[in-house]
Formats: sequence, structure tokens, C-alpha cells
Amino acid sequence: MTASLQRSGASARSGRSDGRIYGRIHNNNNSVMRFTTLLFISFLCACLLAPSVSLASSEKSAVKKESWSFRGIFGHFEKASLRRGYEVYDQVCASCHGLRFLHYRDLEALDYSRAQIAALAARLEVEDGPNDTGELYSRSALPSDRFVSPFANDEAARFANNGALPPDLSLIVTQAGGKGGADFIYALLTGYADPPADFVLAEGLYYNKVFKGHAIAMPPPLFEGMIAYSDGEKASIERMAHDVTQFLAWASDPSLEVRKRMGLRVLIFLAVFFVVAFLYKRRVWARVR
Ligand code: HEC
Repeated sequence: MTASLQRSGASARSGRSDGRIYGRIHNNNNSVMRFTTLLFISFLCACLLAPSVSLASSEKSAVKKESWSFRGIFGHFEKASLRRGYEVYDQVCASCHGLRFLHYRDLEALDYSRAQIAALAARLEVEDGPNDTGELYSRSALPSDRFVSPFANDEAARFANNGALPPDLSLIVTQAGGKGGADFIYALLTGYADPPADFVLAEGLYYNKVFKGHAIAMPPPLFEGMIAYSDGEKASIERMAHDVTQFLAWASDPSLEVRKRMGLRVLIFLAVFFVVAFLYKRRVWARVR
């Protein structure tokens, strides 16, 4: 690599001193320009296509690509789905999984009122202190507290789950990125099935189509109609899996919408700036010619 770079550097240098070669390069200036432009355009195309290509190639057979509103440059979260997703997390997943990077007050982004948030937080106990006598004490949670995890520590969590640790879900969607992120979690939640006849399933494990090794310690968490959505939506397994996955995507990356909106503004600014600069350049050079 270095050797070839050096060689090409050397030939470029000798090319410049050799008038004949230099002349030929000079004559070909136009085609070189065209070639460079082409190269640049294909590079741009490659950059734009790369994410979808890499996703397609890393796709495991059973993990289907879902359509998520938060993908792409116009990406945004569906607020109704986020609110339902919070209900699923709160009523189903929260008994095993923490969400410790989220604060109760963050639910304001899902249009919960301050009073509602205070009431949601107050259902849980947190340890605080020390008080005036130096003792730790427990009090009910406040909107400024982080989501209270269901277990005091990992050991207690493992003990309650047959030795398997239910991971904190705060960053699960961005963390599971390598496995397909939101697509993987949706596929996992909807991927429980009866094992094939020749599959040996150990005690306390459940068959799942997308989990590594197909044997997972998490019991199937979702059942048809298991919760009553407050907006009256029918709680099918697919609906709940979609909503809770979207909620977890938001929890992993709450500033996604702001970021994408800013990115779009920057692109629009650059486009307008490019047109102005181009027109200005033409005006200046018109006088020279
Ligand atoms: C009864 C407890 C329990 C409930 C309820 C539960 N989980 Fe789990 N979950 C687990 C355990 C235990 C594991 C670890 C599984 C393993 O390592 O085999 C796990 C693992 C996971 C994983 C990581 C899978 C991986 O690839 O490592 C995700 C994501 C997950 N759960 C999401 C959810 C969601 C979303 C809900 C609510 C709809 C939920 N869980 C409800 C116990 C639970």
C-alpha cells in the first residue's frame, strides 16, 4: 500500500518534470475533470446507499425489516404509538426490565401532564438520604427521579429469573444496532413459537425464532389483548410489540427528532447557499469573459 503510494507519488513528480507527459495530462484536463466528477458522484451514491446495503447484508434470515416512522431524514416518532408503548412497558416489561436512563419527567415529551407524571412516579419507592439522623430512608418517587428498576441489583434480577439477567432497556435499541436494532426487538417479541420436533429445549428456556441459539430465558411477554390501551386501540401482539419497540427507540434516543430536523435545515440551507454561490460566480465571471 505505502509502496504503491510512493510509486504513484514518484511518477506524478516525474510526470510534472517531463513536459511531454505533462502536456498530455493538460490536454486531457476536461476528461480528467469529467472522470473526477463521476468519481465524486458515485462516491456520493455509495454513501447514500451504504446504510441500506449493510442492513440488508447483516439481516438474519428471521429478522424482517419493519417500516418505522423514525427512520430516514424525515424520521419522527408517532406520539400515539409512543404513549401506547409506554403503557406496554409500564404494565408488562417493567416487572423485569429497568429503564434507568429515563426520568419520569421525560414523559412530558409524550404529552403527559405534570400532575399525571407525579402520580405515575409516586407509585414507586426510591431510597434517599441520609436524613438529619444519618439514616437512609425510602420515599415515593418524584418526577425528577430516574425510572425505578424492578430489582435492587443484577444478582437479585438473576435470582428471580432462573439465572438469566433481564438487561436494562434504556439503550437496547441503539445497542442492539448490530443485530438490527428496532427490527430485532420487534422480531424477538413476535418470534415465540413451538420448537421444531427435533429441538431439545432446556428447562426454563423458551423457543424463539430470532434469539441466538433459539432458546431464551425470557418467557413470552406478550399475549393477545393482555392490556387495555387507554386510547382504545386493540392490543394485538403485533400492535404491542410495535408500540413498545417504538417507545424503546425513543428512550434510547429521545433527541432524534430535533437532530433530524436540524439536519434537514442544514441541507436546505446548503442547497440555497449553493444556488446563490453559483449565480454569483456566473455574474463575476461574465465580466471577465
Ligand atoms: C418475566 C420477566 C420478563 C418480562 C416480563 C420481560 N422480559 Fe425481557 N428478558 C427477560 C430475561 C430473563 C431476559 C434475558 C434472556 C436471556 O438472556 O436468555 C430478557 C431479555 C430481553 C431482551 C434482550 C434479548 C437479547 O437479544 O439479549 C429484550 C430486548 C427484552 N427482554 C425485551 C422485553 C420487552 C420489550 C418486554 C415487555 C414487552 C420484556 N422483555 C418483558 C425477562 C423478562
